[in-house]
This record gives sequence, structure tokens and C-alpha cells, in this order.
Amino acid sequence: MSINFRDKVVVVTGGAMGIGEATARKFAELGAAVAILDVNADAGQKTAHTLGKEARAEFYACNVGSPVEVEQAVASVIRDFGGIDVLVSNAGIQRYGDVIGTTEELWDEVMAVNLKGCFHSAKHVVPSMKKRGGGAIVVVGSVQCFTAVGNSAAYVTAKHALLGLVRAMSLDYAQQNIRVNCVCPGAIDTPMLRWAASLDANPEKVLATCDRMHALGRMGKPEEVASAIAFLASDWASFITGAALMVDGGMLVPTGGMGFQEGGTGAATKT
Ligand SMILES: NC(=O)c1ccc[n+]([C@@H]2O[C@H](COP(=O)([O-])OP(=O)(O)OC[C@H]3O[C@@H](n4cnc5c(N)ncnc54)[C@H](O)[C@@H]3O)[C@@H](O)[C@H]2O)c1
Repeated sequence: MSINFRDKVVVVTGGAMGIGEATARKFAELGAAVAILDVNADAGQKTAHTLGKEARAEFYACNVGSPVEVEQAVASVIRDFGGIDVLVSNAGIQRYGDVIGTTEELWDEVMAVNLKGCFHSAKHVVPSMKKRGGGAIVVVGSVQCFTAVGNSAAYVTAKHALLGLVRAMSLDYAQQNIRVNCVCPGAIDTPMLRWAASLDANPEKVLATCDRMHALGRMGKPEEVASAIAFLASDWASFITGAALMVDGGMLVPTGGMGFQEGGTGAATKT
């Protein structure tokens, strides 16, 4: 059995750029019709246009933080494509601050996009999946579903909460043959990561550190996350639900982090 999504309709939120764009491309290559929901109309239309050369792909302007916009966009997708089989809840933003430095507006912005965006999307997509006899939801979490980085209180909180939402939905819809899983990427080379690095006085040093954080010694590529998402959405993952799949190049494996592995107890005896 090979993985293919022929006759399947896939919605990718945040599908204009980065991991979402690579995911939309992956599903198009695998035969799906793809609907991209994104706030960035220029980039979204461009991505849909390039995908449209190999598959049916449409762009829908949508801020996932807005319940009304999500409801309208999902209704448009169902009208245009006839239903939805796969939801990739990927749209997210990165914002920085500890709780003192985080304004309520910034906190609400992060929760609206990174957490409620998934809630709104699933709320409107799941009824269509039920009608079609099943489906798959893949949520793009982060290693920060499990761990924290400093000065990122809202982002870390939203990512931890997403995992709870994944587990809750996996139980609620298991009987309807709807599987719900999460991918947890490490540092992935996307516009978001490049922007985050650019905030530092020495972006190149940040990027080099991002490489070294992973046991594999490099950052991930958006396509590598897209492959994991496609796997979880496919029949190859037919007995997987409520799971969190690390796509982190081994980032969370080493006790004490990579620095300890290189210089800590026992490292000198390594062959
Ligand atoms: N890049 C990484 O290192 C990394 C690591 C772990 C998790 N993630 C997660 O992966 C997801 C994608 O990240 P990325 O690095 O590809 O980001 P990106 O900024 O490169 O792309 C994000 C896409 O989401 C869209 N978007 C942003 N806000 C939106 C909104 N309110 N409504 C609809 N679309 C919106 C953007 O326009 C863009 O097309 C996010 O959930 C992020 O938290 C990224």
C-alpha cells in the first residue's frame, strides 16, 4: 500500500509559507485537492497557483484567530470541494516575553492564533469529516509542547495546551473514525525561524546554535515535517491517534542537552 490522497480534500491552515507551504505541496504531490487558509493573501495565492499546476489548489483568506473567518472559510471549502478529509492545523505565530513583559494583548494574540485557531478549525471541519465517514487531523505543535525556552511564556503555554486539545479530540472523535495527532518539530528552517534569528545582534550565531541543538547536527527542513504530517494523515497511520510525534532531529533525546553530551561525564571516553 502506498501513501496517496487521491480524491481527498486537505485543508492546511497557515499554508502560504514555511511548514504549511511544504505540507500543502506534499499533499498536492500525493494527489490531494488542497485548500490553503492563511492571512497572507499574496503568499497564499502564489502558493496555491504553483500547486495548481499538479493538483487542484485554492487559497482562502482567513485569520484562524477569528471564529467568523474560520467558519466562512471552511464553509467555502466545503462548497467548492464537496467536503473535507484532512485538516492540518498549522498556522502559528512566535512572540516573546516573560509574564511581566507579556501584555494581555500579546497573550491573547498568541492564544487566539496558536491555540484557538486549532479549536475553531476543528469545530467547523469535524462535521464534514463525520459526514464522510472519517478523517484525520494533524496539529503542528512543537518540542515546546513538552519543554520550554525562556522568554516565551505565551508561546510555550499555547503549545502545551495544544497537546491537551489533540488528546481530547482524539477521544471525542475516535468512534467516528477521525484520528487526531500532533507533530512536534524542533528548529525548522522557515521564515518564522529566520525572523526570530534576525531579532538577535548575531543571526548567524543563532542559526549555528539551532543546528547544534539537534542530535543530527542540523536544523530540520519544512519538507521533513510535511512528510511526518502526511504519514500521520495517511492510512499507514490507521492505528495511531492521540499521539505526539517528535520531528526534532533528536533534540529532546540527550540528557542535559547536546553540550553535556559533547563535554559532560563520559564524553572523553567516546570512541
Ligand atoms: N519553524 C520552526 O522552527 C518551528 C518549530 C516548531 C513548531 N513550529 C510551528 O510550526 C507552525 C508553522 O511555523 P513556520 O515556522 O512554518 O511559520 P512561518 O511564519 O514560516 O509560516 C506560518 C504561516 O502561517 C500564517 N499565519 C500566521 N498567522 C496566521 C493566522 N492568524 N491565520 C492564518 N494564517 C496565519 C503565515 O502567514 C504563514 O503563511 C507554527 O505553528 C509554529 O509554531 C515551527
